[in-house]
Amino acid sequence: MLRLLTATDIPRLLEIETATQMSPWREEVFQNCFSSSCDCWGVESDNNNLVGFIIVSFTVLTEGHILNFAVDPAFQQRGYARALLETVLQHAREHQILRLWLEVRRSNTRAIKLYQNAGFVQMGERKNYYAELNGREDALVFLIEL
Ligand SMILES: CC(C)(COP(=O)(O)OP(=O)(O)OC[C@H]1O[C@@H](n2cnc3c(N)ncnc32)[C@H](O)[C@@H]1OP(=O)(O)O)[C@@H](O)C(=O)NCCC(=O)NCCS
Repeated sequence: MLRLLTATDIPRLLEIETATQMSPWREEVFQNCFSSSCDCWGVESDNNNLVGFIIVSFTVLTEGHILNFAVDPAFQQRGYARALLETVLQHAREHQILRLWLEVRRSNTRAIKLYQNAGFVQMGERKNYYAELNGREDALVFLIEL
């Protein structure tokens, strides 16, 4: 089941975040999302367990920026990420959003494949955007016109 998340979901979001991200967001960053112009969608497994989330910022009226997106490792490769992304795309179309964009690590082939399959195309890159254990990693910038 897909649903909009609230600040009460933050403890579970932090669990998924720390299990999946090299530089996990802190609690305050999630709190800021819930108190600003972000949509936070979650997906639950059969027993109402929150297993994935996607956060989109709509600071520009016709544009959305995917800020964060992750699925609990124990529940990956079951279509949960694709369902989250489809929900965001559908919601954006219904609200006259013209484009969505995001950054992704150059090495994150799983996520890149997912975005390309959904229709995103690479439109640029940001050198040394992400902190790495041994230095920095480039971000690729992907965009979808809706
Ligand atoms: C990227 C991520 C969200 C995908 O979640 P997921 O639930 O496993 O993805 P899905 O099961 O919905 O798979 C959707 C698509 O993702 C891609 N994908 C998922 N797992 C993959 C794998 N192991 N190898 C290659 N592609 C993969 C495929 O394109 C897949 O489509 P397919 O089923 O037609 O092959 C998940 O791996 C994750 O949380 N990663 C860590 C956080 C992260 O990188 N977030 C993105 C930041 S930009």
